[in-house]
Amino acid sequence: MKRIDASGLSQRECIAVNIYPTADEACLQAADAITDLIRARAAEGKSAVLGLATGSTPVRLYRELIRRHREEGLSFANVISFNLDEYYGLSGDHPESYRRFMQDQLFDHVDILAENTHVPDGLAQRDDVLASCQAYEEAIREAGGIDIQILGIGRTGHIGFNEPGSGPQSRTRLVTLDSLTRRDAARDFLGEENVPRHAITMGVGTILEARKVFLLAWGEAKAKVIAESVEGTPTESIPASLLQAHEDCVFCVDEPASSHLTRVRYPWVVGPVEWTAEMTRKAVVWLAQKSGKALLKLTDEDYTENSMADLLTEKGPAYDLNIDIFNQTQHTITGWPGGKPDADDSHRPERASPFPKRSLVLSPEPTDDVFCLGGTLHRLANQGHEVTVAYQTSGNLAVPDTDVRRAIELIIELGEKLHDVAELKFARSVLEQLEQKGAFGEDTSDLRTMKGLIRRGEARSSGRMLGIDPEALRFLDLPFYENGRYRRFKAGDEDVERLAKLLDEVQPHQIFATGQGHDPLSVPAICFDVLVEALKRCEGASWLADCWIWLYRGPGAEWEMHEMDMAVPLSPDELEFKIKGIYQHQTQRSQSPSVAKQDVHDSWALARQLNSATAQVYDTLGLAEYEAIEGFKHYSL
Ligand code: GLP
Repeated sequence: MKRIDASGLSQRECIAVNIYPTADEACLQAADAITDLIRARAAEGKSAVLGLATGSTPVRLYRELIRRHREEGLSFANVISFNLDEYYGLSGDHPESYRRFMQDQLFDHVDILAENTHVPDGLAQRDDVLASCQAYEEAIREAGGIDIQILGIGRTGHIGFNEPGSGPQSRTRLVTLDSLTRRDAARDFLGEENVPRHAITMGVGTILEARKVFLLAWGEAKAKVIAESVEGTPTESIPASLLQAHEDCVFCVDEPASSHLTRVRYPWVVGPVEWTAEMTRKAVVWLAQKSGKALLKLTDEDYTENSMADLLTEKGPAYDLNIDIFNQTQHTITGWPGGKPDADDSHRPERASPFPKRSLVLSPEPTDDVFCLGGTLHRLANQGHEVTVAYQTSGNLAVPDTDVRRAIELIIELGEKLHDVAELKFARSVLEQLEQKGAFGEDTSDLRTMKGLIRRGEARSSGRMLGIDPEALRFLDLPFYENGRYRRFKAGDEDVERLAKLLDEVQPHQIFATGQGHDPLSVPAICFDVLVEALKRCEGASWLADCWIWLYRGPGAEWEMHEMDMAVPLSPDELEFKIKGIYQHQTQRSQSPSVAKQDVHDSWALARQLNSATAQVYDTLGLAEYEAIEGFKHYSL
């Protein structure tokens, strides 16, 4: 097995991994390789054979290829393409079929010949599936084999739809989808029950035969599976790890997706590092967690036995290092997320004045606020700050049909009782739209409006639980979301303008936001980009000079200990308020697919688990013992 060892830092990695600051930059390597291949083959009068993938990951690569086609004359006339997979049972014009996806995201925008594009046939009859899969393999062979294969990766470690258990010899075939994969796809299909149970996918063996492979991955959610695929023993349980056997395979990832690699997470273990304040905190906290000791109990031996002898020499002895990191960690804790008025704030995360503060909480969807900072919101409101919660998107795509039906039926009944003709007419027409669309269809704009209103109602009652006045809630309904579908959102000027206007109106002293480090096409990440752009538009405004930004990690995850600059403890009662607040989001009773965990199904149970786990970490590090903690990271513009 090859070991990449150029810098000494990546010695645990059995696949080449290139880490880029952004997903856009990470796409360029694959885009260049494809461009070079197409041009070289065109010069010889030959075709270039591409293996293509779907999902949000390759969308940016396709956008770059389309740009090159339009602006740099890159022609796809000599390209033959084979897609990895297709949902079984979906026709090519179903909005979630991979054929449709490829048409929308690439084929319709370049000059590739329709007959040269291949996607497995999702409608092959059961009896014909085997023959159809064999024919697909045969077509790849006839084309001369795949020159460049593009891959994404699922959270189960799947490539294509090769779920755990797929061996290196597997070929194109019909497979059953893993439950986590189906949950990840639930949002696209507007409900897990609509996600097909089967798919046709190229096999791992088919993929391994490609001459060159690029696997792309963005966002923190992929970090764990990337590290396991690259550093772990190759195993069928993580099909992407089987790529270790490929001679020319590169993983191109953004920084968040690289964050679990040993060289990124524990760099001191694999080579010398510069002991900056941040690195020192990260390493000492890691050491305490690894050895299961409180910070103040770490010994010189603990440091030397865990590749940190140089840190000891530079900043030791252990006693000094321990106290320093203990104090830093201690100073992250505050029960005053808006700052404690008239108190010495030299060791507090937030400043004491001004008081009260104008606190603006940005919530990408209507549950994110309460899920991630319900306790903090409760404290801010109780401590007299002027809290505004702005829901960036309506969240209407995440409302199940059953809930909208119930609401419509209620309106119809009320309309009948009050003889309200206009109301009845509207409600009956929406009910008809619901019935006509069927399980797989797209919601009409009336349906989306109704679903958005349902989420508004839930947000209001959740806010009430936390002591937030409904008047303090703002619903921005950003257009990128209203006009889009999951995995294909694209923010524009109007999104930025709407948020900039709100910022200018509220003129906040502190903003709570999320989305940094998420998959760039996810709702939180797009909302974060919109915030960054909106803040640029506010440049020069006097309020901005005095505005602090606190990032929350986002649903289903918490900052790592060393990243947390503010930890807000919740008492048992406050945790209950928060849980009741989450509970008001009845349409979101199952946790969001993007944070799905196998063992916890309810969003409130997951929030409780996460916040308690954070408190436990503080406890085991030897700090005070709390019921629950919500964490924040300071963000500088
Ligand atoms: C699906 C596809 C995979 C893709 C994965 C990840 O399962 N069959 O090919 O890699 O999703 O999707 P995304 O890129 O949206 O995270």
